[in-house]
Amino acid sequence: MATSAPLGSQDTGIVHVVGARPNFVKAAPVVSALRGRGAHQSVVHTGQHYDDRMSAVFFRDLGLPTPDVDLGVGSGSHAAQTAALMVGLEEEFSRREPGMVVVYGDVNSTVAAALVAAKLHIPVAHVEAGLRSFDNTMPEEINRRVTDQLSDLCFATSPEAIGHLAAEGISPDRVHLVGNPMIDTLLGNLDRFDADALRARLGLPERYVAATLHRPANVDDPDNVARLTARLHEIADLADVVMPVHPRGKAAFDRAGLGDHPRVRLLEPLGYLDFVALTRGAAAVVTDSGGVQEETTILGVPCLTLRPNTERPVTITHGTNQLVTEADLLPTVTKVLHGQTPERIGDDTPPLWDGRAGERIASVLTQWSR
Ligand code: UD1
Ligand code: UDP
Repeated sequence: MATSAPLGSQDTGIVHVVGARPNFVKAAPVVSALRGRGAHQSVVHTGQHYDDRMSAVFFRDLGLPTPDVDLGVGSGSHAAQTAALMVGLEEEFSRREPGMVVVYGDVNSTVAAALVAAKLHIPVAHVEAGLRSFDNTMPEEINRRVTDQLSDLCFATSPEAIGHLAAEGISPDRVHLVGNPMIDTLLGNLDRFDADALRARLGLPERYVAATLHRPANVDDPDNVARLTARLHEIADLADVVMPVHPRGKAAFDRAGLGDHPRVRLLEPLGYLDFVALTRGAAAVVTDSGGVQEETTILGVPCLTLRPNTERPVTITHGTNQLVTEADLLPTVTKVLHGQTPERIGDDTPPLWDGRAGERIASVLTQWSR
């Protein structure tokens, strides 16, 4: 943890570090709320994601300011990418001397920024702290644990995160339950997600299943991709399947012939507004995305998460999410298409997922002192 002076006394501004698709969606409401408070802030894009459809489209859709700098780090193995991120961020932070670095979620850009900032004695705030899958085979789980340990401020999106942080020895005075900025973005744009217009523009049928898969455990092994392709073809025998393909799995799904089924429609990654419109109009979503589990919870769209665990259990207890294996994917989709969905266990949406997380975060950030 940092030992520098209070933010606001010798602060030279808040630096938001973003790099990958989900970061942009989470940062937008925080940047906007801080702008409303007249805070001195800048946005550093690491360049972890760089295709227009993985990056720039989000800045356009969400009205995020153009990043003050793009480090252009790009892709690589975990070590190569994280090392390049750290070198680039160290230069950037040394030059800017931020009063606070704000990091988002669980990607490599997040942990790299936290490590660099902590060693430069710059305070770190982590948005989406305390989520745990308890599955260290996921790179994100390692990134979450390390980032939280290094963070002076841990902004939690759901109540169970508080217990996870406490169990890892993180003092409660560092932890703030603030709600979910990804849901701020969703609620703030609800009237811009036009499922009918998207359906007409893309020539989609009335009823379809939307799919998005990018976790290494699902898409990195060709044999696994072949099995998932067979399951998606079986689903397509029942209802059209529309899949915006994440670049990580594109070559493997192409090789496995996913697009060969006449009722499978493969798309480039969609911009945020189009993707949420696709989700909103879907009969069901098959995914391994973290953010999509949360968005479907609020949109009320059945979400089948192709993973053995989730770090977002509130999407099951208070939402529409259920975990599925490859073996039970088809029967579960069949049930959902017949209107059989599990009852929500909670009566309500997750606590504080009310569109005001960005404001709460901005309030803590601007008042923070040590
Ligand atoms: C990363 C995050 C993951 C997050 C996901 C969101 C890590 C460890 N993983 O996974 O937690 O859920 O982003 O989408 O940080 N590529 C492109 N164009 C791009 C970006 C990537 O073609 O703009 C391809 C490259 O071949 C690259 C591969 O996708 O090697 C993986 O990219 P990378 O950023 O390493 O991880 P993601 O799988 O995108
Ligand atoms: N998303 C998008 N276009 C797509 C797929 C996802 O805009 O083609 C959005 C989605 O609505 C959510 C975010 O990207 O807001 C989630 O990112 P992703 O699934 O890549 O990462 P994860 O949440 O799994 O870390």
